[in-house]
Amino acid sequence: MLVVANWKCNPQTLKEAKQLFNSVKNLPRSDLGKVEVVICPPFVYLSSLNLQDSGLKLGAQDCFWEQKGPFTGKISVLMLKDLGVEYVILGHSEVRALGETDSQINRKLKTALDRGLKPILCVGEKEKTSKTTPIIEQLRAAVSGIRKEKLQNILIGYEPVWAIGSGNPCPVSRAKMVKIAIDRALKEFFGSEIKDQIPVLYGGSVDSEIAKRYIVEGQMQGLLVGGASLEPKEFTKIVKSVIIK
Ligand code: PGA
Repeated sequence: MLVVANWKCNPQTLKEAKQLFNSVKNLPRSDLGKVEVVICPPFVYLSSLNLQDSGLKLGAQDCFWEQKGPFTGKISVLMLKDLGVEYVILGHSEVRALGETDSQINRKLKTALDRGLKPILCVGEKEKTSKTTPIIEQLRAAVSGIRKEKLQNILIGYEPVWAIGSGNPCPVSRAKMVKIAIDRALKEFFGSEIKDQIPVLYGGSVDSEIAKRYIVEGQMQGLLVGGASLEPKEFTKIVKSVIIK
């Protein structure tokens, strides 16, 4: 079970970032033994958040596919790994909306997998009424040319674009339907034995009221939390709610 906090472009100062991180750090270790909590702050805060004895994991919100060289403004996987980062969010709709292409996502994904960073590959439809086809096409493009043996560390984030930041989470029944379609597609791409190894997370206006239902009824293996991850009390409630006793 995994709960990922996507802070996006927040907070505005290092002091606030440390405060937010420390508030999550107070989660009891016994709870963190049952849920993996991954904090994905902006790049600039990654090296200042002290993981020591926290039981938390760090993730980045993006990465570049080259390791070094003349690429102004880019952050490589090796740089992230050097800071103790374990996860990276890739293909988030907010990055796609600024021009990221399927082929760029594919290159980033290959690099992250090759270098041992765990990618959380985000896919999701723009319209609530769409079928699952655009989601599966994003998935197909992202994993194109990747061998099954490389997939051990990948996670999929189902993030319906219309639900993100809207206060209007996806109906659990729809999330479940998409989860089944993703499992089926992975089986088609990589063979039946791969299906159960790849966790699927739900993201899009998750709050503490609905969080657990995605796990219990929606068959998700975790959650991606944006807005609510900036509110320590609410985020802690979400984490605690998904611990299935
Ligand atoms: P939200 O964001 O929880 O604010 O909707 C989720 C995400 O974009 O990962």
